[in-house]
Amino acid sequence: MSEDDADRIDRNRRHFLTVATAVTGAAGIGAAAVPFLSSLKPSARAQALGAPVEVRISAMQPGEMVRVLWRGKLIFVLRRTEEMLARLPEAIDELRDPYSEVVEQQPEYAVNETRSVKEEFLVVEGSCTHLGCAPLEDFEVRPSEGWGGGFFCPCHGSKFDLAGRVYKGVPAPTNLRVPPHRFVKDDVILIGQDTGVA
Ligand code: FES
Repeated sequence: MSEDDADRIDRNRRHFLTVATAVTGAAGIGAAAVPFLSSLKPSARAQALGAPVEVRISAMQPGEMVRVLWRGKLIFVLRRTEEMLARLPEAIDELRDPYSEVVEQQPEYAVNETRSVKEEFLVVEGSCTHLGCAPLEDFEVRPSEGWGGGFFCPCHGSKFDLAGRVYKGVPAPTNLRVPPHRFVKDDVILIGQDTGVA
């Protein structure tokens, strides 16, 4: 691991602990809610058991990311800026699977240059493919570090670009997984269901 990576781990440690606590708290709430499933209305019960989740994206600004839970999994929805999209080809040679050839990591409709249905919106699981830590967003471009923005896992230093593609030479073996999803309206993404068509 380079000194830059070590520095970044230190910088992110406090943030990571906060995120880990928040996720643990959310999981605890979910577990506590399970005994009460039978008392929920059908739609709420289906949601708790893993029904698709709608994400309204109309208020999202370019460069903004939201997190949602689907089946207990953290999902990142990032609205990429034009600059972010323009940077995607730049690090191709440094990526382990730049063309999304590991088929399990995304539905077929996300096998493209941006790993997305609509290039502006990246939808990926917020789970590092090494041992499952939640990666941190790090969208700041730092040319001196060869970093064009993306996601950084503070557990063991894995790095992913702005399409969730893993860099070479890090512990994570594969790209971040793209969950099934589709646009049910221009401003609503349904996560967890695609009926085979994006
Ligand atoms: S869990 Fe992310 S690098 Fe190990």
